[in-house]
Amino acid sequence: MPARKKIGVLISGRGSNMMSILDACERGEINGDVVVVISNKANAEGLQKAAARGAEALAVSHREFPDRESFDRAVVEKLEKREVNLVCLAGFMRLLSSWFVSSFRNRIMNIHPALLPSFPGLHGQKQAVDHGVKISGATVHFVDEKLDHGPIIIQRAVEVRDDDSDDSLSERILKIEHQIYPEAVKLFCADRLRVEGRKVFIQDK
Ligand code: GRF
Repeated sequence: MPARKKIGVLISGRGSNMMSILDACERGEINGDVVVVISNKANAEGLQKAAARGAEALAVSHREFPDRESFDRAVVEKLEKREVNLVCLAGFMRLLSSWFVSSFRNRIMNIHPALLPSFPGLHGQKQAVDHGVKISGATVHFVDEKLDHGPIIIQRAVEVRDDDSDDSLSERILKIEHQIYPEAVKLFCADRLRVEGRKVFIQDK
C-alpha cells in the first residue's frame, strides 16, 4: 500500500461532494485523509459541516486579494504547508490560474454535473434538459488550464426523462456524483491512476 495521501478540498457552497469524500475516508475506503477544507466564501454551508466532522475548515475570501493569482498563491501556500497530495474541487466556483494548475499538475480533480465534453460551464444539468438529450451524468476529471476540459477519470450516465426539470435531473445526477467522486479519489490515493496526454488509465491493483 502506498503512503497515505493528504487531501485538500476546495468548496464555495453546500459541500455535499466534500462530505462524500470525508465519509469515504472515515469509512476507511480511501487511503487518505482530508487535512483541510478551504472555501472562498466565509458563509459556505460546507465549512460548518467540515468543522463539525473535525476537519480543519478555513475561509480565504477572494475579495481580499487584488487579482486571481494572488488569491491562488494564498490558497496554494495553505495546501503546501499541509503537504497536500491531492486537491479536490467540490463546487468551487473560481477558475484556477495556470500557475495554480501547474503547481499541482494532474493532482487537482473536479466534478462536473454533465458528461463532458458536453455542457461545460455553469448549470450543466439545465443545459442538458434544455438541449433535450436523453442521457446525461457526471464526470470526474483532472483539471487543466481550460474550463471543464482536463483528462477524464470516471463518468457515469443517468437517463434524462421527458418530465425532468432542472431540479429533478440535478437530484439524480448528485447521487451519481457522490458515488464517483470518492471512487476517483480512492483510485488516486491507491496510486492507480496513470495520465498519458488526455487519457487516464486505471491500473490493476
Ligand atoms: C455539484 O453539482 C458539482 O457537480 C458542481 O457543483 C455542485 C456542488 O455541490 N461542480 P456540492 O457543494 O458538492 O453539494
